Amino acid sequence: MITFKSAAELEGMRQSSRIVAAVLGELGPLVRPGLRTRDLDLYAEKRTRELGAVPAFKGYRGYPASVCVSVNEEIIHGIPSGRILQEGDVVSLDFGVLYEGFYSDSAVTVPVGRVTADAARLIAAAERAFFKGLAELREGRRLSDVSAAIQASVESEGFSVIRQFVGHGIGRALHEEPQVPNFGAPGRGPKLRPGLTLAIEPMIAAGGPEVEVLEDGWTAVTRDRSLAAHFEHTVALTEDGPEVLSERAHAAVRRGAPADKEGPHA
Ligand code: MF3
Ligand code: CO
Repeated sequence: MITFKSAAELEGMRQSSRIVAAVLGELGPLVRPGLRTRDLDLYAEKRTRELGAVPAFKGYRGYPASVCVSVNEEIIHGIPSGRILQEGDVVSLDFGVLYEGFYSDSAVTVPVGRVTADAARLIAAAERAFFKGLAELREGRRLSDVSAAIQASVESEGFSVIRQFVGHGIGRALHEEPQVPNFGAPGRGPKLRPGLTLAIEPMIAAGGPEVEVLEDGWTAVTRDRSLAAHFEHTVALTEDGPEVLSERAHAAVRRGAPADKEGPHA
């Protein structure tokens, strides 16, 4: 069952999402060659608690950290460690909090120093696919219109959509119904209406879509070890249309940015 949110609940989601946006917005600029992935996790947990929130992922099904840090061929659920980031890496940061009863969840992929043109294109494609999906978050559309728009965007740029992991409803639980796949035919699934809150999160690969989970039981990598990127926001369909609840002040690519004109800044 989908839990549609009242105006008061949407306000709670906004507050939670603001914290996610603030912390994730601070993590991005910390990313540089020489940084340990664990440093990002330590910073995020400290800031989250300073802001009166609780990291949402730590302890979730036994996940051991506050931020998922996934490097290069790692798609999602990378565990922060002593690994040192190198110039040219691409690093996906996935972060969520619980604040006054409401969850928020957001992810971004950032370049470490200078990256290849292909890596930059992949990062931008994940972000662009999110906004193509968001544009379908309109009253009267159906859920799979979001999915289909994401898939079309990703594949039009020559990349592939990961199918094994999907976006989700979010609210008083981190994962609520409905599931939000990043692929599929349009015109299916529940009709969209105000009060719907989702974590829309395209996960994409430069090579094939097949996934492997590493020995640690968490880290999902592309089977062909091609680069992956992830972009996620907690969003709502409100009476006034779609709203990106976890929007950061300085997102690398703004909504509607034309392809190839504007990429992520190093
Ligand atoms: N954003 C991811 C999700 O929606 C991260 C949570 S997984 C966790 O599921 F287990 F690490 F918490
Ligand atoms: Co999520």
